[in-house]
Amino acid sequence: MQLADLLFTQGFGARRTCAGLVQQGLVTIDGVAVADAAAEVEPEGLHFCVQGKEWVYHAKAYLMLHKPAGYECSQRPSAWPSIYTLLPSPLRQRPNKGSTPGVQAIGRLDQDTTGMLLMSDDGVFIHRMSSPKHHVPKIYEVDCAEPVTAPQLQQLLAGVVLDDDPKPVRAAACEATGSQALRLTLTEGKYHQVKRMLAAVGNRVVGLHRSRIGPLELPPDLAPGQWRWLSREQLSALLNRAQ
Ligand code: URA
Repeated sequence: MQLADLLFTQGFGARRTCAGLVQQGLVTIDGVAVADAAAEVEPEGLHFCVQGKEWVYHAKAYLMLHKPAGYECSQRPSAWPSIYTLLPSPLRQRPNKGSTPGVQAIGRLDQDTTGMLLMSDDGVFIHRMSSPKHHVPKIYEVDCAEPVTAPQLQQLLAGVVLDDDPKPVRAAACEATGSQALRLTLTEGKYHQVKRMLAAVGNRVVGLHRSRIGPLELPPDLAPGQWRWLSREQLSALLNRAQ
């Protein structure tokens, strides 16, 4: 692939902008500036620097973000900053190809919810991970306003009816983790589901954190607001889980 084209696919701007970056000597490979925009490079696994910032070529983007509180999972937020502002600009600017969307969140967390969000620009992957058919379990750590009781846990496991659907929704697993805290596993993702389920059993959510999606746990060293690429192993573990 030609170097300027590679930069374009990675979100470094319009093709002309990318050619300009190369011609100005702002792109280095192995510490050496490559000034020929048409220079042929092998994209797979290529490490390069643009204006001193290191980047690694990824044909498709698969990443996790530790969503902090106070951010909306929307490209056009109404009241809070968007989670997309937490990504570096190449990830926000990756070009749309045909039906492939730009990098987007797979599902949403509420403004005040923290924890793991997966993001990608691979439409097939997004569909597979978000389809209720695949039942990828998601684990939530829930802080409650009232003490958590055994009947509440039983009700959450047996199923509760929410206001938009007569079919009960149930937790795949549920355990108390403190007198006013519980861990809830869900395999579907209805709007405000955890908050509505807790309200349906007479409690109220005061803190919500997603600690796990399928086989992936939120790494303890990924601070709120930080993101990282998924490794090949993490990606295949997710895909195996979502068959
Ligand atoms: N359930 C909720 O109520 N809110 C979230 O952010 C996620 C799941």
